[in-house]
Amino acid sequence: MEYKTILFSVKDGIAWIRFNRPKKLNAMNAQVITEIERVIVECESNDEIKAVIMIGNEKAFIAGADIKPLSDADVNSAFRLVELTTRMQERLADLPKPTIAAISGFALGGGLEVALCCDFRLAAENAVLGLPEITLGIIPGGGGTQRLTRLVGLGPAAEMLLAGVTIKAEKALSIGLVTEVVPVDQLEIKAEDLAMRLAVIPAVAMKACKTAMRSGLNCGLKEGLRIEEMAFCMLFGTLDQKEGMKAFLEKRKPKFLGK
Ligand code: CAA
Repeated sequence: MEYKTILFSVKDGIAWIRFNRPKKLNAMNAQVITEIERVIVECESNDEIKAVIMIGNEKAFIAGADIKPLSDADVNSAFRLVELTTRMQERLADLPKPTIAAISGFALGGGLEVALCCDFRLAAENAVLGLPEITLGIIPGGGGTQRLTRLVGLGPAAEMLLAGVTIKAEKALSIGLVTEVVPVDQLEIKAEDLAMRLAVIPAVAMKACKTAMRSGLNCGLKEGLRIEEMAFCMLFGTLDQKEGMKAFLEKRKPKFLGK
């Protein structure tokens, strides 16, 4: 499939989604959002892909929604944009394969919201993260008020959301917004290392674990525990469970089949 605003490649089971609108710091207009959604669908349907890395360039992961078309939006067009964004983000968050946002430079507004839909966020030392929408007279429209708050808690989220404060990589690490901070020139290699480790996890267990984790955020503890219980028991019907445990007992490396 052809993309104009992203570069897409697959190597050794790892999909690389590279945002590629450098003159605008990868700001997302409708075309970018649509292409991200299409590439996620491609990642979902390609069995060769076991893990996904989303990355920008050194200066920017994504500096937010493109403010130009937003500036003269009305209520109707705002609803259309939010619909497009939400559809793309839910596809990303629900992708049954592990996802990594490798962040160098700016991850602002809608850009940070994309990263928040990923399972892991690695930050280069030059990363700047924030949801500055309030300084533009709006609020985040791509899940920022919800996903950031659930991830880091109300206090740190309030600083970023209500005061529009942007934070650097180390601070992001201290509040749990990113999982690791690495030198700028190590970002790709560290993201690839993590992706390789995730790519060998049995695929059905990965899908079940992601579903249980993410569904749990949308319901109460009891319901979440039932989802986990179901997923746990269903995994005993997979070949990978048999192989994983047999290999442990035989003191050898497992050969997973993804079923
Ligand atoms: N939208 C449109 N264009 C953007 C952009 C954005 N979000 N971010 C950067 N650009 C453009 C700039 O306009 C500039 O274009 P020109 O060269 O044509 O003027 C180019 O990218 C380079 O940017 P700067 O010259 O501003 O670079 P800088 O290093 O001086 O500053 C920055 C970098 C601090 C990130 C600054 O560009 C900035 O503040 N950008 C906007 C960040 C922002 O507010 N993001 C939230 C957007 S709203 C949103 O995302 C809503 C939502 O959730 C749906």
